[in-house]
Amino acid sequence: MSFEDAFRSVEEIDGWLTPQQARLLYERAARLSPGARIVEIGSHHGRSTIVLAKAAPEAEIVAIDPYAKGDEYRDVLTEEDVRTSDLERFEANLELAGVRARVRHVHDFSTDAVRGFEDEIDLLYIDGAHDLRTAFADIRNWGALVREGGTMLIHDSFSSVGVTLAELVALFFAGRFRYVGRSRTLAEYRREHVSWAGRLPNAALQAAQLPWFARNVLVKVALVGRARPLARLLGHQDEVFPY
Ligand SMILES: C[S@@+](CC[C@H](N)C(=O)[O-])C[C@H]1O[C@@H](n2cnc3c(N)ncnc32)[C@H](O)[C@@H]1O
Repeated sequence: MSFEDAFRSVEEIDGWLTPQQARLLYERAARLSPGARIVEIGSHHGRSTIVLAKAAPEAEIVAIDPYAKGDEYRDVLTEEDVRTSDLERFEANLELAGVRARVRHVHDFSTDAVRGFEDEIDLLYIDGAHDLRTAFADIRNWGALVREGGTMLIHDSFSSVGVTLAELVALFFAGRFRYVGRSRTLAEYRREHVSWAGRLPNAALQAAQLPWFARNVLVKVALVGRARPLARLLGHQDEVFPY
């Protein structure tokens, strides 16, 4: 199945994944061997889950989301969302896309679900809680399970303060993941040994994204402060935070 066909089945699904980011997810999943394992942290209504499942029809897919009350994403619920719970919507969307039987949903917090999970991961997609503590735990604990040569994708990189600080602490100078690049806030890391000599350039590449991070924080401040002209001046046309 082509990316265009896969994306068509999710374009109406609510979420924070741009078409370019969906393409990156799709391409990284599509190149996996049969039997590979994909873990997604944070599924919401299944927009990214379905892209991953369609891209890798022979992969095992684990989607972790507690759909917990009080979560930051539950604050933006519409009335209709309140009537139909997010979990039901996730399941219905997967069913409609014909991938429900292929996705193992873990109805739990990522920080709890990681206990006892010992299988190697070929592709890890982190898009769960964005506070520093949880984002750091996800990168450290789930990232440790990514196999040599495997991929870790982190959404809201260089936009969310919590996620960016977690990357700064866990990834900028560490020797386990090489920064590959990003599609807007979707950052890609490859699991490989980074030598001492390679760590400075690896950190520099990530640090080079910090001016864009500062711009994104400014955009958020402008949106919260209802200073839309400032956000527009910074090149941001949407009413929602940059992702
Ligand atoms: C930004 S949304 C995910 C969007 C989804 N990846 C997509 O592209 O459509 C974040 C999701 O993370 C979930 N979440 C929050 N805290 C979590 C945690 N500790 N572990 C796993 N998921 C969590 C929320 O319930 C929410 O559905």
